[in-house]
Amino acid sequence: MAQKRKSCSENENHYDLVYNFDQSAPPTSSINVAVNHLRPVDAGEILSRYEIVEKLGEGGFSAVFEGIRLKDGLKVALKFALKTDAMEYISIPGHPAPLPLEVALMMLANKGPSVPQIVQLLEWQDQDGYYIMVLERPSPCEDLFEFLEHQGGVLSEDLARLIMWQVAQAAHMCCRRGVLHRDIKLENLLFNKETLEVKLIDFGCGDLLKTSAYETFWGTEMYCPPEFKKSGKYHGKPATVWSLGVLLFELVCGDPPKNKDLNKIEAGIWSKPGLSKDCCHLIQSCLQRKPKHRIGLGKIILHDWFKAQNCIALLSGKYRATVCGDPPNTNDLDMIDPSLWSKPSLSKVNE
Ligand SMILES: Nc1ncnc2c1ncn2[C@@H]1O[C@H](COP(=O)(O)OP(=O)(O)OP(=O)(O)O)[C@@H](O)[C@H]1O
Ligand SMILES: [Mg+2]
Repeated sequence: MAQKRKSCSENENHYDLVYNFDQSAPPTSSINVAVNHLRPVDAGEILSRYEIVEKLGEGGFSAVFEGIRLKDGLKVALKFALKTDAMEYISIPGHPAPLPLEVALMMLANKGPSVPQIVQLLEWQDQDGYYIMVLERPSPCEDLFEFLEHQGGVLSEDLARLIMWQVAQAAHMCCRRGVLHRDIKLENLLFNKETLEVKLIDFGCGDLLKTSAYETFWGTEMYCPPEFKKSGKYHGKPATVWSLGVLLFELVCGDPPKNKDLNKIEAGIWSKPGLSKDCCHLIQSCLQRKPKHRIGLGKIILHDWFKAQNCIALLSGKYRATVCGDPPNTNDLDMIDPSLWSKPSLSKVNE
């Protein structure tokens, strides 16, 4: 089984920071060991409202547990995040005290009309040495890394389109709300295979979006834009577009792009047998080494590739309920090609 890719920063010194959550465990110099000892104990009143079930996952700085809200049985995820020396608190409107950056970014990304492609923060609590976030938890759900692996490592172009449309939407909405996520990758996208809905999680490497260049990188190396490796600088939106290109490449090719792919992409001659011209074009538009040659973030969802099927109509849950009145059945989902799926009384939905 392939290993999940851990997020990191340009300066990896914080990996040496010690934070031990389990008071009974001996001090350790390894953050990984610390996370393994992380237990939802002594975490104050927030936990009295949830039953904690099992561990869902963990990254470099946190552990996430499956939870159930006691008052109504709502399925949630509880993320215990380590505080490190590098961690920031910021002030945002409407909150008198500074908030951990990750919490603040999730609040900003969710401010305004709800965006179903961004996971919601239900509540949070600051603790000594760590903070706890209670997040919505789709059910059933797995992250895209796991889903892709269960699918044999590569997706059909139709399913990749539906997923990418939602990821591009999430990325675009984050930026519109002043948030740079900076760690968009398979592991940070939840996928519900019944409804085909995607949700962006893990704002732990993010920052406020600024127009000037960033000079440090937080995120995952494989998705790091080439301009940072070359000049030590990058801008938020083109870097996001690059990460979306890497993600799309992985979904439809099964692996991240190699240098030889990037050379062909730069020359505008990259293609892959079985992939549509539009899909290859979008990959080439996102993965240009020169940021100014990349497609604009807001233009991605308008790309011709997304016109081949009506993503909104094919999605279930909130979207489907509003246009069709009921969730999709298995036949609907099989007919992912828009030429096969239609509903009398609906014109081409939401175009
Ligand atoms: N709301 C959620 N619902 C279901 N599963 C979740 C949820 N949030 C996280 N997970 C699972 O837990 C894993 C780790 O979560 P997350 O990415 O937020 O933390 P992390 O990678 O440890 O963060 P960081 O990079 O800041 O250390 C995810 O890849 C996913 O499998
Ligand atoms: Mg993560």
